[in-house]
Amino acid sequence: MKIMVVGGGGREHAIIKKLKENQEIEKIYALPGNGGIAADAECVPIGATDLDGIVKFAAENAIDYAVVAPDDPLVMGCVDRLEAIGIPCFGPRANAAIIEGSKVFSKNLMKQYGIPTAAYEVFDDAEKALAYLETAPIPTVIKADGLALGKGVIIADTREKAKAAVISIMQDKQFGKSGDQIVIEEFLEGPEVSVLSFTDGETIVPMISSMDHKRAGDGDTGLNTGGMGTVAPNPYYTDAVAEECMNNIFLPTVKAMKAEGRPFKGCLYFGLMITKDGVKVIEYNCRFGDPETQVVLPLLKSDLFTIMRAVTDGKLSETPVEFSDKYAACVIMASDGYPVKYEKGYEITIPADITDKVFVAGAAKKDGKLLTSGGRVLGVTAIADQLKDAIDSSYAMVDRIHFDNAYWRHDIGKRAMEAK
Ligand code: AMP
Ligand code: GLY
Repeated sequence: MKIMVVGGGGREHAIIKKLKENQEIEKIYALPGNGGIAADAECVPIGATDLDGIVKFAAENAIDYAVVAPDDPLVMGCVDRLEAIGIPCFGPRANAAIIEGSKVFSKNLMKQYGIPTAAYEVFDDAEKALAYLETAPIPTVIKADGLALGKGVIIADTREKAKAAVISIMQDKQFGKSGDQIVIEEFLEGPEVSVLSFTDGETIVPMISSMDHKRAGDGDTGLNTGGMGTVAPNPYYTDAVAEECMNNIFLPTVKAMKAEGRPFKGCLYFGLMITKDGVKVIEYNCRFGDPETQVVLPLLKSDLFTIMRAVTDGKLSETPVEFSDKYAACVIMASDGYPVKYEKGYEITIPADITDKVFVAGAAKKDGKLLTSGGRVLGVTAIADQLKDAIDSSYAMVDRIHFDNAYWRHDIGKRAMEAK
């Protein structure tokens, strides 16, 4: 069995390490992968959005199964293209990936099907949006409709900042066509929970919950990043919250997508906020979260490839999906200056006894050395019986990994510990 994983970050490394547990799989290719993933898969220099290159590679190398992990190729229709040449895939088709690809689509879907989310208005005209902001409640949240590298959400605590956001998205086209339409929505408050799920379009099985740490600095300060660390499970996700989510959000979403003729198959990610008025959807993603995947998959006891095949074949209801009852913590080591400006090319040293705990995101291999090549460089995941031990053990490994200009948050898991 030859597998191809599209993508090249820490999430893909976590997926590949988990897939390797399956004995049927003889070969894994990563497109493009990275210098760290190269230890676990054969990396092929084809970019994740080069759909022609991906399809050609798959055909020429008799790939048996493809996992498309990042948002862009999914939204661009990578799965549709691979299925068209007979390759079964894990990941939604473009008509379902739109749940992440268009915030206007997802907000309208939730409104139509009564799925709880922040109240909102949609605008395709900057003047109307600016006029609305004269009287809108503040703080308010401005979201570019399309994909924007995780930067398309602006929380404005003054009317002036809100208007500036509208101008930069709609008039200055900061995110290009992604800003042709915007959503302006109610500002919600409460603890956030990430829930990744497997769904085959009918059945939905939530994975263990997790908590991301999106801001760059300790104490949740500084700019938003792709995520500086995660813990799982999330202590705010109690059994009662899980039941509410299943009844009001998870099942209704899967049914809504089916009813719209857009059955979602793959990993559907729910970004949730537990507000005083109940759990609400902040965002959907059409893929595994990063770095949520680096704590969720290491806790998965069942075989990932078996579950993925069941999702593709519409047999998820017959397939066990079991998680460990332990805790996981992942600390991201980044290049200092991320997410704005950072230097690259520094040698990374990872002690041999902990390489299996390290998921590499931004590193290149050169002359046998592993060099930093991105903002988020790697994630270090520890598992333990108690959350505190997982956090301590992850930080103990971080202290043993070296590269110049390394930066990491020192408080991953602190909020989760305080919630207990
Ligand atoms: P996203 O880029 O969609 O992941 O959103 C980034 C972050 O913005 C989320 O994780 C939330 O912390 C925050 N956010 C998004 N929408 C809202 C909202 N309506 N109210 C409060 N915070 C929000
Ligand atoms: N960690 C959030 C995301 O993957 O979008």
